[in-house]
Amino acid sequence: MGDSPLTSEARARHVAIIMDGNGRWAKKRALPRAIGHQRGVEAVRRLVRGLEPMGLDCLTLYAFSSENWKRSEDEVDDLMNLMRKFIKSDLPDFVANDVKLHIIGDWRSLAPDIVEMLEDALAQTANGSKTIAVALNYGGQNEIARAAAEAAKQGEVTTASIEAHLDTAVLPPLDLLIRTSGEVRLSNFLLWQAAYAEMLFVETLWPDFQPEHLADALEDFAQRERRYGGRK
Ligand code: FPP
Repeated sequence: MGDSPLTSEARARHVAIIMDGNGRWAKKRALPRAIGHQRGVEAVRRLVRGLEPMGLDCLTLYAFSSENWKRSEDEVDDLMNLMRKFIKSDLPDFVANDVKLHIIGDWRSLAPDIVEMLEDALAQTANGSKTIAVALNYGGQNEIARAAAEAAKQGEVTTASIEAHLDTAVLPPLDLLIRTSGEVRLSNFLLWQAAYAEMLFVETLWPDFQPEHLADALEDFAQRERRYGGRK
């Protein structure tokens, strides 16, 4: 964990990103959408490599939503193949950067070979001291429904018992949610966790996103006054 120059109160521990704009990035250059997604993966790679000085405990990335199945079969195949390639090529980077992988969403219903690769990646990164959580086949409403059903099986349904069964239960509370590409909506991402998170919507298309953009966002976060519904 890197030492942050900010105080522990101001420092963001958990940031989540809706990585949007791969398609528009490609379209602007008259390139196939698949190239936009490839460049999107490169942006993820840069971020993993540049994470250390940011002092984050957790970065959560929205890689594939439960609604993304509605895209063309070719695009879904491209995204799944990118996932396979990314796990193969970048797992050593995760280990080298002391990153523990966590996955949220209904990932066990992905293709069996991907599930197997992910299980192996989880095992290999289990000792990392900071977390990258990847949302795969993820939908926030579905996550809340699953958590509530689990809480009901075990007793009283309360906000605390639902929270304890969310896919993010082991992660620190969400501090900051960023969406790239200028769109201003949550798209079913971390609906529960966003209750008191700060939000930042930036115009940058995801393939152009640099570690410096995240560093700037963390600076911006540190200046905000969070009240959690109360008053100082
Ligand atoms: C949004 O761009 C992005 C996605 C649907 C997927 C995000 C995926 C990646 C960055 C690559 C896969 C990641 C990993 C970790 C392997 P869009 O296609 O909706 O862009 P548009 O709104 O401009 O069309």
